[in-house]
Amino acid sequence: SDRYCVFGHPIAHSRSPRIHALFAEQCGQAMTYEAIEAPREDFAGAWHAFMAAGGCGANVTVPFKEEAYRVADVLSQRARRAGAVNTLVHGRDGRTYADTTDGVGLVRDLEWHGVALYDARILVLGAGGAVRGVLDPLLAAGPRALHIANRTAEKAVGLAADVHAQERGQQASVTGGGYDALEGAYDVVINGTSASLAGDLPPLPDTLLADTGVAYDMMYAADQTVFLQWAGARGARTIDGLGMLIEQAAEAFFLWRQVRPDTGPVRDTLRHEL
Ligand code: ATR
Repeated sequence: SDRYCVFGHPIAHSRSPRIHALFAEQCGQAMTYEAIEAPREDFAGAWHAFMAAGGCGANVTVPFKEEAYRVADVLSQRARRAGAVNTLVHGRDGRTYADTTDGVGLVRDLEWHGVALYDARILVLGAGGAVRGVLDPLLAAGPRALHIANRTAEKAVGLAADVHAQERGQQASVTGGGYDALEGAYDVVINGTSASLAGDLPPLPDTLLADTGVAYDMMYAADQTVFLQWAGARGARTIDGLGMLIEQAAEAFFLWRQVRPDTGPVRDTLRHEL
């Protein structure tokens, strides 16, 4: 059967093998999907060895998404814009095709939850690789405005400048700044910082979320993240990133197998297993 894997370091706790096993079963695909801890200093070697051993494709997670971008022979347009990739395909021609499905995963999950992005005021917290990877699909959903706030304000300003929203005919104003300059209310606030991992919360004003506001954390855990606890206590609707993980996986699965799994039952199973 066809071989797939996820590369990371560390990788032991990855849910991706479970998710893809559920997809494969549901879609009747003869394939295996394993977790591989690639050495930090030689991702390229690990990928080429996997291809040589019959590997058909891979997901890539922390800390290899930028390196995976560099090993790619052919990049999708959205991958080029993101500057990082999470999905590799071993082409029939032997070349490495690369794409990023995180942003699509985020937008599909928001859609799944019925969160309107069109004409919405969106605030994204964080300006690292995780945020860079989701800006394009968020903007394609047609928000009125998208603001990026980050601990290091210059990174948010720089990222907003990179986006060049106008160039793509999008109407949204894209701006960036620090946490101290945050003001006004947002319809959707997305936490893309890694602060949750450390149990930290960026310093956010109490007035940040509009009355019917939605707080989304790209992280997930068995217990609610501090960001979602903060937002929930202020009346916001809260959504964690488990659905994003499953939707980005579904998009990768589609790239490999040309079959689109139904994510509904997999969402239920994974939530239950958290
Ligand atoms: P990732 O791939 O997860 O995006 P990254 O590129 O290192 O990782 O970015 C981490 C993001 O989380 C950054 O926006 C970082 O803010 P800085 O750019 O100011 O470093 C943010 N971050 C990490 N820990 C944080 C904390 N304790 N409080 C606020 N922001 C934090």
